Amino acid sequence: MNDFLPIDSESAFNAFLDSHDSYRRTLPLDDLRETDYGRLDRLGHVYLDYTGGGLYAESQVAAHHDLLSNQVLGNPHSHNPTSLAATHFVDEARDAVHEFFNASKDEYEVVFTANASSALKLVGESYPFEKDACYLLSYDNHNSVNGIREFARSRGAEIVYVPVRNPELRLDEELIHRGLTQHSPCEHRLFAYPAQSNFSGVHHPLEWIDEAHENGWDVLLDCAAYAPTNKLDLGVIKADFVPLSFYKMFGYPTGIGALIARKEALAKLRRPWFAGGTITLASVQGEGWYHLAPGSTGFEDGTVNYLGLSAITIGLRHLKSAGIDTIHERVTDLADWLLAEMSSLAHTDGAPMVRIFGPETMARRGATLAFYLLDPEGAVYDVQRIESLAGEQRISVRTGCFCNPGDGEVAHDITRDDMAECFDEPAVPVTYDQCQRIITDTTGKVPNTIRVSLGIASTFGDVYRFMEFAATFRDRPARDVRGQHDAQG
Ligand SMILES: Cc1ncc(COP(=O)(O)O)c(C=O)c1O
Repeated sequence: MNDFLPIDSESAFNAFLDSHDSYRRTLPLDDLRETDYGRLDRLGHVYLDYTGGGLYAESQVAAHHDLLSNQVLGNPHSHNPTSLAATHFVDEARDAVHEFFNASKDEYEVVFTANASSALKLVGESYPFEKDACYLLSYDNHNSVNGIREFARSRGAEIVYVPVRNPELRLDEELIHRGLTQHSPCEHRLFAYPAQSNFSGVHHPLEWIDEAHENGWDVLLDCAAYAPTNKLDLGVIKADFVPLSFYKMFGYPTGIGALIARKEALAKLRRPWFAGGTITLASVQGEGWYHLAPGSTGFEDGTVNYLGLSAITIGLRHLKSAGIDTIHERVTDLADWLLAEMSSLAHTDGAPMVRIFGPETMARRGATLAFYLLDPEGAVYDVQRIESLAGEQRISVRTGCFCNPGDGEVAHDITRDDMAECFDEPAVPVTYDQCQRIITDTTGKVPNTIRVSLGIASTFGDVYRFMEFAATFRDRPARDVRGQHDAQG
C-alpha cells in the first residue's frame, strides 16, 4: 500500500528534495510564485491545467498597464505619431519572438494570429493540397491539426495517419519512417505532428524533421503544448511551420498566437483571399487585380492586435527572466514525483488506484499527465465527478479528450466500429457526452480522461495537494462516487 497519506507535506517535500537535487536550482520560482502568482495561494487555488492555459504573472499585467497608461496608440502602419508608436510595439513584439525562439530573420517569418488554431488554419487553407499532394499526420494531434485534413480531402490530396501505440502512446517509428520514405509520388508533402502531446505529454522525436526534409516534406511542428515548458531553438530545429498560442506560454494576453514559418515554406502557400493589410495594392476594376504583400504581412488579415502585442514582448521577457530551462527542470521534477506517487497509489487490498495513459517515467515526455482513477474493483470513477469534486477543493484539473481524439481512442481502446456508432447519421450532430454514453453503453469502455499539467508557477505544494485529493478515494467503490448521468441512470 502506498503510504502517501501519513506523510505530512513538509516531510514529503524534504524527501522529494533528497531525491530531486536538481529541483533546488529552481527554488527562485517559489519566490516568484509568492510575489507574481500570489493570488493562487491567497485564493486557495491549486492550478493544474497549464496545458489548457498558462498563468500570467501580476508583474506582466502591471507592466502592460503602465505601458498603455503612458502611450497614445493608434492603428499602425500610418505615419502619424500614434500610428508610428503602435507600429514600433508591433515590430518590437515580432523581434522578441524571433529572439526568444532563435528564429533568424533571414530564415523565418513571424506571422501574428489570434491563436495556434488560426495559425494552423493559415497553413491548411493555403497549402498546395492538390491531387498530387500528401498530408501525413500522427494520430496524436490536436483537432486544429486534424482539421487541416478537410482542406486536403476537399482538394483530393492523399491523407495518411500514423497511429500511436499503447501503453506509452508513442508513434511507431518504423511507420513514420515508412510514411516519409515510401509515399506515392506527391509533389507537395506536408507532415504534421506535435513536439509535445497535449494528451499524454509524450515528446515525439524532433529528429524526424531532418528525415522529412531529406525526403521532400514540409514539416508542421505543433509547439502549442511544448513551448510553455521546453526550450525551442529554431536555429537547430528547422521546422517549417510552428504554430503556438502565447496565453499557453505566459497567460496574458489571450487572443494572440503566431505562425513561425520558414520563408521557403511560406512562399509555397497560396492564400485563398486577400484582406485589408495583406496586400500592397488592389483594384476593383480587373479580375485578380491584387498584389499580396511579401512576408508575414501577406498573412496578417486586417488590423493586428496592436495593443495586445506589446504584452507579448513583456511576457517573453518574463519567461526569459524566469528561465525556460529552469521552468523545464522544475516541472520535470514535479511530474516525476507525481508519476511515481500516482503509479504506486493503491487501495488497502493492493489494487492500483491510478491508470496512467502514456509513459510512466519522465523519459522523453513533458509534464502533462493523462489518467483515470480506479476503484478497488478496477472500475473507473466518473471522470466528470472527479473534476467537480476536485473543483470543490479549488483544484483545477481538466477532463475529456482535450481535442485530441487520436490519443483518446487508442488509450481507451476505442475501435473504428465503436466510433462508427457516433457517426451513423452524419446529418444528426452527436455531442462528445452523447458519444461517450453510446460507447460506454454498447462496449463498457469509458472514453474520458483526467489531465493534470504543470507550468511556470507550479510548486511541490500543488502536486502534494493533488495527491492528498487522489488518496481520498482509497477503498471507495465507484458506485459511491457517481456523476449526474450515472445517478440519473
Ligand atoms: C497541441 C495543441 N495544439 C493546438 C492547440 C490549439 O490552441 P488554441 O486553442 O489556442 O488555438 C492546443 C490547445 O490546447 C494544443 O494543446
